[in-house]
Amino acid sequence: MELKERVDQLTDELLKAQKAYYVDGRPVMSDTEYDRLFDELSRIESQHPEYRSATSPTQRVGSDLSGDFPEVAHTIPVLSLDKAYSSEEVISWMDKTMKSASSSLSFVEEEKIDGISMVLYYQDGEFVRALTRGNGYVGNDVSANIRTIKAVPLRLSEPVSIAVRGEVYLPKKDFERLKEANPEAANARNLAAGTVRRQKSSEAAAVPLTIFVYEGFWEDESQRPEDHLSILARLKNLGFRINPHIAVFSSSQEKSRELLSKAGLEGKAYAFDGLGSYLEEVTAERKDLEYEIDGMVTKVNELDVRQALGYTEHHPRWAIAYKFESPQATTKVLGVTIQVGRTGRITPVAELESVPLGGSVVRRATLHNQEYINELELAVGDTVSVVKRGDVIPAVEEVLEKNEEGNTTFIIPPFCPSCGARLVQRGAHLFCPDRNCPQQVKGRISYFTSRDQMDMDSIGPKVVEKLYDMGLVRDISDLYTCDFSRLLDEKGYGEKMVRSFREAVEESKKRPFVTVLASLGLPEVGTKGAEILVKGGFTDIDRLLKASDENDIEAFTRIGQIGLQTATLIIAALQDEDMRSLISRLREAGLQFESHEEENSLEQTFSGQVWAVTGSFEHFNPRTLALKELEKRGARTVSSVTGKTTHLLAGKGGGSKRAQAESLGVRIVSEDEFISMLRQDDGKNDKVSQPEGQLSFDF
Ligand code: IVH
Repeated sequence: MELKERVDQLTDELLKAQKAYYVDGRPVMSDTEYDRLFDELSRIESQHPEYRSATSPTQRVGSDLSGDFPEVAHTIPVLSLDKAYSSEEVISWMDKTMKSASSSLSFVEEEKIDGISMVLYYQDGEFVRALTRGNGYVGNDVSANIRTIKAVPLRLSEPVSIAVRGEVYLPKKDFERLKEANPEAANARNLAAGTVRRQKSSEAAAVPLTIFVYEGFWEDESQRPEDHLSILARLKNLGFRINPHIAVFSSSQEKSRELLSKAGLEGKAYAFDGLGSYLEEVTAERKDLEYEIDGMVTKVNELDVRQALGYTEHHPRWAIAYKFESPQATTKVLGVTIQVGRTGRITPVAELESVPLGGSVVRRATLHNQEYINELELAVGDTVSVVKRGDVIPAVEEVLEKNEEGNTTFIIPPFCPSCGARLVQRGAHLFCPDRNCPQQVKGRISYFTSRDQMDMDSIGPKVVEKLYDMGLVRDISDLYTCDFSRLLDEKGYGEKMVRSFREAVEESKKRPFVTVLASLGLPEVGTKGAEILVKGGFTDIDRLLKASDENDIEAFTRIGQIGLQTATLIIAALQDEDMRSLISRLREAGLQFESHEEENSLEQTFSGQVWAVTGSFEHFNPRTLALKELEKRGARTVSSVTGKTTHLLAGKGGGSKRAQAESLGVRIVSEDEFISMLRQDDGKNDKVSQPEGQLSFDF
């Protein structure tokens, strides 16, 4: 036999044996036999390195070379999941989802593995790379470490090109065994996360990580199965490790059973009304599992319905995670303050004795409205539990202990704390009726300048407050005529800052119409709403003003995603004198009130990245030219380096931002490097690269 043939044969047998042991849990050969074949292959490979392939079973032992984890762009959107904290929430999500779908649905229930999210990429059946989730657009290439996980197939049973999402985790018993040697790891997830990022893959190989995969994206759309159950079955047949604990919910138990057997999978079958008790059951029994789960995931089974439901920016609308616990803490209410929002809405806020909660320190928590306070029977001085639900502001959940001072349930005073106007009740909330109320005006201006709107980063709420109090800015449009130099006499405001305010104001004039529209503060017209309006044909402000002049509700409702109520609200707001004069002043100032969408046809290869710029440049002079190039390719540009910044474009000079970037580990890009990134922009940038033979998935 040719040596090369022997290598192929050994490789094949060893990979099969690894799969049988680590994926299927059914060994097909003895340990000694395995070792013998393994040693033979290693020997041949060391004598003939030309026969060693990256997907050889010997490559799982890792190396002692230390590697870094270059950033690589994902070719599929790696989204996160929307969250629910009770089975009732999941059931009502399911009802809502069924109502919005036109065909009958089934749902698959999976365990939410508490591990490290991973995307595995395969080309023609060969493992190519493993990327962490990263920011969803760009992840770290941790292939060297992931290759050491025996349950990760290096070759698939068919030559498919596919991206697979899964969760890398460490079984509980292995954590128990290893925790003494790894005292810094608080739990199994922690140790798994550390292992995935070990510098030396030989160290990663020493930790018995494993993986469950749960989503697959075929490069060739025509190969994509019709439903989620078939995806799981296909993944299993390709050689991946699938979690067998699944349950199907549909109109009848019978139908659920059929769906499972059609896919050739084992699992539990229920009718819809069994969901509540199923979730309860799992919650009660999860401690007996061999791995940690932090919730359950409910997914729409039918893929065409998934496509129709679509996504928000962060999560698909076809799945929801039921989290067993939201982070909680106990603390004391020191007082209650009253906030006035930009729409005049009054929100009572509990001022708390500071307490750590879910990774940050909490000093305030929302009390929503008077009704909520009444339900809690909350008084100043009470000891309460606070929770963080998803990523939202913490809320007071329960009074645990009443105060000893004899304070009674807090009542919101009937007057606006900012302007003194008598508050009015609308629905569940109180509102300050005066649009000129200082707090409302400041709120509107801050909303306008905020990152998600006109992105005048340097002009945050504190600066707005100052400008307002000095009488320099009393309205959004005043920003464009404001003499910022007046601030120079004030403490804490220097030349540099004033310059950054002026720059921010100038820059904002370039923001596209859709952003301007979203920043005006029209009811229901945020980022998404503005997009819907512009895409729906309102490509300039005049069309909007005309429709509102003519009370043309239909012009809005025919867009589809806009209902009667929203249309009426928008029309009323656009008829308002103050809004009209604001629009005309902003127009005079030079803001974009027409959309020029077609101008940009570049691929959004920098999307998800957040760039700051410092110093001066040869080619990009003024440096706003560089910002433009970035924005055209989907990057967000900011004026200062923070934890969220992903890149700093650094020219000559430039001191503090560079130091800040260095200390935060933000990637620093020189002008030359930047130019070569732009040149290779169409697919293959240097580090932020698309994989070779670009996989492009239509999700
Ligand atoms: S599905 C687009 N299924 O939970 C939907 N995610 O909070 C992709 N996770 O980032 C996610 N087990 O890392 C899905 N059975 C499961 C999961 C699961 C764990 C993780 C995943 C995701 C996170 C969202």
